[in-house]
Amino acid sequence: MKVLVVGAGAMGSQVGMVVALAGLEAVVCDVSVQALASAEASLRQRLAGQVANGRRTQEAVDGAFARLRFESNLEFAAADADLVIEAIVEKVDAKRALFAELGRLTQPHAILTSNSSSIVPSKLADASGRPDRFVNIHFFNPALVMKAAEVVRGPETSDATMKSAVDFVERIGKTPIALDKEIFGFVANRLLNAVRDEAIRLYEDGYASVQAIDTAAKAALGYPMGPFELMDLTGIDIGYHVKKERYAETGDPADLPSRSVTELVESGHLGRKTGRGWYTYDKTGT
Ligand code: 3HC
Repeated sequence: MKVLVVGAGAMGSQVGMVVALAGLEAVVCDVSVQALASAEASLRQRLAGQVANGRRTQEAVDGAFARLRFESNLEFAAADADLVIEAIVEKVDAKRALFAELGRLTQPHAILTSNSSSIVPSKLADASGRPDRFVNIHFFNPALVMKAAEVVRGPETSDATMKSAVDFVERIGKTPIALDKEIFGFVANRLLNAVRDEAIRLYEDGYASVQAIDTAAKAALGYPMGPFELMDLTGIDIGYHVKKERYAETGDPADLPSRSVTELVESGHLGRKTGRGWYTYDKTGT
C-alpha cells in the first residue's frame, strides 16, 4: 500500500513518518521545496534523538527513511497512491482545489482523506469527484506521539471506505476514533476548544495570567500541557483560521477569533514555529 501525504508542515511530515515507521511506503508532497527540506531535516533530528535515547533502533529509522520520499511534483507523487492524506492549509477553497486535482491525478480506487480538524467531509468530498471514497482522518499534534486519529464519515462515505480508513489507522499503530456522523470540530477538538476558549476568556478578562491558567490545567487537572502551551505547539494561526472560516459560515460574532489571538497572528507570533506565541522559545524550542 502506498500513501501520499500532501503538505509538509509539522502534521504532514510527521504523519508521513508514522506511515513509513509502520512499514508502508509514503511520499510527502509539497509545492515548496524548502518546506520539504526543512520537514526532512526536522524528522531526521527528531528520529536521531529517539535512536540516541534508545526509543528506536538505527535500523528501524533507516528503514523508515528508505520508505519515505519527499516530492514536489504532485502529478508524479499521486500516480501510484492507494490512499492520500491531505494536510495543507486549513482553508476550504485551497483544499477543494487540491481534491479536484487529486480526483484527476490518482487512480480510481484511491481513497482520498483530509486531515482537517474542522472542515467536515461534506464540504470537501464532492470536489474530489468520488465522495464515496472520501473520509477525514484527523491526526493529533505531535502526530509521531499522539496515539489516536479520528475517522470521520461524511454523508456519502461508503461502508467500505470507512472500514479501509479504520483499518489503515490501526495498521499504522494509532487508535481509531470513528465518528458515524460529521460535526464541526469532531469529538476531540470540541472538548479541547471548550477548554481553550474558556482559558482565553479568563486571560482576556484579567482573571489570571497565561502561565497561571496553564499551571491550573497541568497541576490541578493533570493535563499534559496547558491550553496556551498547546496553542503554541499546534500553531496559533490554525485555530485563528478555523474560527474565521467558522464565522464566515455562521455569521455569529461568538465564532470570531478572540482579540488576543488576532493580535498574535497579526504580529506573526504563531507559536513555537515562529519562536514566539503566548510564550517565547529559544532555538532548542525550550
Ligand atoms: N514533535 C514530535 N515529537 C515530540 C514533539 C513534537 N513537537 N514534542 C515532544 N515530542 C516527543 C519527544 O521526542 C518525546 O519522545 P520520546 O520519549 O520518544 O523521545 C515525547 O514526545 C515526550 O516528549 P517530552 O518528554 O519532551 O515532553 P512531554 O512528556 O511533555 O510530552 C507532549 C510532550 C507529547 C507534546 C505532551 O506534552 C502532550 O501529550 N501534550 C498534549 C498534546 C495534545 O493535546 N495534542 C492534541 C492537540 S489537538 C490537535 O492536534 C488537533 C489539531 O486539529 C490541531
